[in-house]
Amino acid sequence: MKNRILFFSAAITLIAFTGCKEEASISEATKNSEEKSIFKGKEVTKEYDAKIDSLMAKMTLEEKTGLLHGNTMFATAAVERLGIPELKMTDGPLGVREEISKDSWAPAGLDDDYATYYPAGAGLSATWNPELAYTFGNSVGEEARARDKDVLLSPAINIIRTPLGGRTYEYFTEDPFLNKQLAVPFVVGVQDNGVAACVKHYAANNQETHRDYVNVKIDERALREIYLPAFRATVEEANAYSMMGAYNKFRGEYLCENNYMLNEVLKGEWGFDGIVISDWAAVHNTVESLKSGLDVEMGTPKPFNEFFLAQALIDSVKAGKISEAEVDEHVKRVLRVMYSLNSITGEGRKEGSLGTEAHFKDAYDIASESVVLLKNEKNMLPIKTDRLKSIAVIGANATKKNALGGFGAGVKTKREVTPLEGLKNRLPESVAINYAEGYKEQYSKTEKAKFGNVTLNGPVTINELDPKMVEEAVDAAKNSDMAIIFAGSNRDYETEASDRASLALPFGQEELIEKVLEANPNTIVVMIAGAPFDIENINQKTSTLVWSWFNGSEGGNALADVLLGKVNPSGKLPWTMPKELKDSPAHATNSFPGDQTVSYDEGILVGYRWFDTKNIEPLYPFGYGLSYTNFDFSNPKLNKQEAYSKDETLTLSVNVKNTGEMDGKEVVQVYVSKSDSKIERASKELKGFQKVMVPAGRSQTIKIDIPVKELAYYDVENKTWVVEPGTYTLKIGNSSRDITNEITVQVQ
Ligand code: BGC
Repeated sequence: MKNRILFFSAAITLIAFTGCKEEASISEATKNSEEKSIFKGKEVTKEYDAKIDSLMAKMTLEEKTGLLHGNTMFATAAVERLGIPELKMTDGPLGVREEISKDSWAPAGLDDDYATYYPAGAGLSATWNPELAYTFGNSVGEEARARDKDVLLSPAINIIRTPLGGRTYEYFTEDPFLNKQLAVPFVVGVQDNGVAACVKHYAANNQETHRDYVNVKIDERALREIYLPAFRATVEEANAYSMMGAYNKFRGEYLCENNYMLNEVLKGEWGFDGIVISDWAAVHNTVESLKSGLDVEMGTPKPFNEFFLAQALIDSVKAGKISEAEVDEHVKRVLRVMYSLNSITGEGRKEGSLGTEAHFKDAYDIASESVVLLKNEKNMLPIKTDRLKSIAVIGANATKKNALGGFGAGVKTKREVTPLEGLKNRLPESVAINYAEGYKEQYSKTEKAKFGNVTLNGPVTINELDPKMVEEAVDAAKNSDMAIIFAGSNRDYETEASDRASLALPFGQEELIEKVLEANPNTIVVMIAGAPFDIENINQKTSTLVWSWFNGSEGGNALADVLLGKVNPSGKLPWTMPKELKDSPAHATNSFPGDQTVSYDEGILVGYRWFDTKNIEPLYPFGYGLSYTNFDFSNPKLNKQEAYSKDETLTLSVNVKNTGEMDGKEVVQVYVSKSDSKIERASKELKGFQKVMVPAGRSQTIKIDIPVKELAYYDVENKTWVVEPGTYTLKIGNSSRDITNEITVQVQ
């Protein structure tokens, strides 16, 4: 299962390795392409419908409603006399959460629920590798099974609209295409284990501020083109079994009682057969939510029979406000999902495994492809250890653990290798490590963060440095051959339930980094964070800059392997790093965070679409990341000279040459532009990509398939997707701003 090579809608086939002088490895390439097959997740089965009908005929109304609401913190009620089990759920995106008490958020205190901590969403997306998204999903799916869970509350795939978003670290990207290319294999991977993925948070939940009530306004085209594609793909391509309704309102209605989003779009247009589960305590009403398409209400502690879909639902049926037949439709969905997971019979259910070496290896593989090399001007990286005697390791982030922290779901794990431990594990013993903490992670005990007049609820950091700690750090840097400073953020500061108030580096780190750089110019700055920060000043002052993430159990080892050159970095930014907050679209349009209402005034111009269209220079563009080698793209060719019809798939081949001396992976990115369009368009949009490994000195031809329908825009008036005929330009490069080749395409 692990080795299954996936092939997705705009996927790619490898056609040939060609060496500088000779043809090489063709057999390997052929083998790979034969293994690739179009993959679709298994649908919710309807084959047990007759059985379900007769089962439901025996159920009382009380038993039925028990299936529609939390009966404990993370499970619905069982109907033991009929052999219907609980539907058991667990968080979440970073790995399987420790067991929570049945009726409160307190940990259950088990000693057999230590799990693998996987890289947070931003780390996965920085790999730009759909195969690793499958690995992640499959691996965490195995862990969910080992804990006997039916539903994993993951992946979290809301679009990064503002760099301040508290859950930016947990979400994937600002781009809808990258988002779906990762979300689909992730969901398939989870569900291959007989565990339902619960894709969240459907939808338009792009900020934490006021999330319990804010009314999000998005125009229909932006909704369809930016915010919904990945959700749609997880339904249509991956057959996701469940979807989590978000907290906020959309166009005036809460998302857990939003008839348009749930009944019309999700269940109607996309044919979703699974269940809509509410976010925890996101339901506000009994009859409206059920009629609008919600299936299961989950929540925070209050007596479970006081939930909207508990006794209140029974009373509403009795009062004739909703019919039992309507209730039955939701119960049937739950039972279908249970049969699809084999949770009723239990037959053939996988046992799974938890916190194993194999899973730590999965976490390592993801982490090692996620690290982004931003700057390497003096070629300090990879670190050459032959004559190295000492390294100063500076910064609280060298030892900070992020598996737990902040508000929301984390992972209880027995392994989290920190950056300092990773270096200790990987450096030769002859190299002395001089560690200095440099700054303290400190927060005000009384203040809450504010953005203008709006209280964001998040922590306020204390940014004064302790002179003694600075002195220690400076001394360590001065007295070592080189220094690495691990700075950035952590999961207490970047957290669910609040957004950040600014992009400033917290805890006085900017000042500290400057001092360390002055003390020893041979300093590498490594940022560990899940979201953009203002690093413009640091970027100017340092020659060497690396970006890493909240990167899971093996994060420290993976990072050390990149710094020491055992792994050639191949991560690419999954979002734009702005020079200043006001350059980002939500802030340039002054439309964050709103109050009762937030209106997404930038429309379709989210992320790099805004920067490119408005000609604003980012600090680092979307898709950017260096390698220890160099790549050259050439000879872009289409499989056809004539115009393509709307139902065809165009195949672009590109030659990728590794012109350096180290084997490495590169991401070929294909952006599409249409200059003479009759509608507003972003200056370019990602429509295809492939990560490819090319040995040093070799060339390889890759093929990228782009279904012509990927070029469509959403026609609001006619409520349909339209492929505009004419000329399109395919822009090929290794970031949204480094375009090296172009080729035009005609569409009929
Ligand atoms: C979060 C969800 C999470 C749920 C259960 C909510 O606060 O928004 O992502 O799955 O809690 O822990």
